[in-house]
Parts: sequence; C-alpha cells; structure tokens
Amino acid sequence: MSFLSRFFKKNNIDNENFDIDYNNLPVHIAIIMDGNGRWAKERRLPRTVGHKEGSNNLDRIAHFCGEIGIKYLTVYAFSTENWKRPKSEVDTLMDLLLDYLKNAESHMRGRSVRIRTIGDSSALSKEIQEQIVRVTKLTENNSGLTLNIAINYGGRDEIVHAVKELARDVAEGKIKCDNIDETMITNRLYTGDMPDPDLLIRPGGEKRISNFLIWQSAYTEFWYTDVLWPDFQKEHILEAIKEYQKRNRRFGGV
Ligand code: FPP
Repeated sequence: MSFLSRFFKKNNIDNENFDIDYNNLPVHIAIIMDGNGRWAKERRLPRTVGHKEGSNNLDRIAHFCGEIGIKYLTVYAFSTENWKRPKSEVDTLMDLLLDYLKNAESHMRGRSVRIRTIGDSSALSKEIQEQIVRVTKLTENNSGLTLNIAINYGGRDEIVHAVKELARDVAEGKIKCDNIDETMITNRLYTGDMPDPDLLIRPGGEKRISNFLIWQSAYTEFWYTDVLWPDFQKEHILEAIKEYQKRNRRFGGV
C-alpha cells in the first residue's frame, strides 16, 4: 500500500488523490468567512439565514481541512467592528456562536479537533465565556486540527493588548524597554503559541485584510474568490492549496 493510500485510509478519506502535494501543505490556513449576507439576499432570505448557512459550512470545511492534514484553521467569526451591525444581526451571530460552542461535541463527530478562540472575550456574554472555557478545556489534548475561532477579534486591538502587557512588564522592571523585540510581541498575541498563517483565503469577492491577523500575516500568501462563503466548498480549498503550492515564498529573501 502506498504512502498516500495509507494516509487516506488512516484519515477515512474515501478515494481521493486530490492532486495536492501532501509534503507541502500550508500548516496554518486562515479564512475570512465573507458573503453570508449576499448569499441570503440572492435568495430573498434574511441575512441571519446566510449566517446560519455560513456556520454550517464552517463545519464542512473544518472537517475537510482536518482530513487532509491541515494543522491549524483560523476563522474570522466576529470582528471588533461587527458590533456596529444592527442589534438583531449581532444577536443572531452571538446565538450562532453560543450554539456552535454548546454543541462542539457533535460538531467534532468523534474527530480529534482542538477548539480554541482568539479575541477579547471580556465583552462577550457570560454564557459564551463559560462555553469558551468549557470547550477549550474539553478539547485541549486533541491532536488533530486546531480550529481557532476569532470572536470579538481585531488585529489592531490585539496589538494594543500586547503593547499594554509589555508596558506593564517594563514598568514593573520585568523587562527592559531596549530588549523588546518581535518575538516578545508575537508571544503576547492571542495566537502566541501558533505558527503564522501560511495561506489566507477570502471568499466573497473583497480583496482586503479587514483587521484580521495583521501582525501574523506579514508573509502570508493570499487567495481570493468571488464565491460566497456559504457556497465555498472543499474544491475551493483544494484550488487555493494548489495555487499556494505553486508560489515561491521568499520571506524577504531572494
Ligand atoms: C461576513 O459576511 C461574515 C460575518 C461577519 C460573520 C461570519 C459568521 C459566520 C460564518 C457564522 C457564525 C460562526 C460560527 C463559528 C458559528 P457578511 O455578513 O459581511 O456578508 P456580506 O458581505 O455578503 O453582507
């Protein structure tokens, strides 16, 4: 049995040689799950239905990423700017997030997924905060995909938090101002113990970063598609990975 066949069998992948290089997979994929509202509008449905469909799609895509061997998947579920949306939409998104966390066990369907969140959880409801703690603890020793859900997350906000921590450490004499370096900042971000994203995918047609992982994406490869998030399927992930594998990452070198 070939290495690939063994890999597919071990990971319960039915058939497929997806025509990607398994030795050159992005370790960390980040996704801006955009286009839920337009998906609903096209069907004359309320935006909230689009978000529900988007949440179902996260399940499908996360499972697929785990199956092909991606180690980290970070998804943008609610930004620090999303509070500006109508209250009814914010409430729906919060309900969906709570529901997702409460039902984490069934979402994982026996797979070894480690679920974490990034962002400022202090502004979230007590119930969501409790579920974050519960699910993080429940899944902390799982060794498959790490699904990292960004909730009340903003890249600038995250850097402000890190800077405040550093300033406190300087004031308390724990570190010297002149010794502050990139690693010290990196370690104080919500993603402190994770590798930077290798590939950032944005469905929904927009081509901007929207305050997502702005420090971490200094050398990330970007891939965009017009497909709206609820319609985004494993074929699109595969297309993004294939394109990623053609790129020559130089990290500032030659
Ligand atoms: C952007 O689409 C999407 C969001 C602001 C929220 C993403 C949330 C989910 C996919 C569901 C909740 C997530 C979990 C983990 C349960 P948009 O509303 O801006 O779409 P539009 O650009 O078409 O209006």
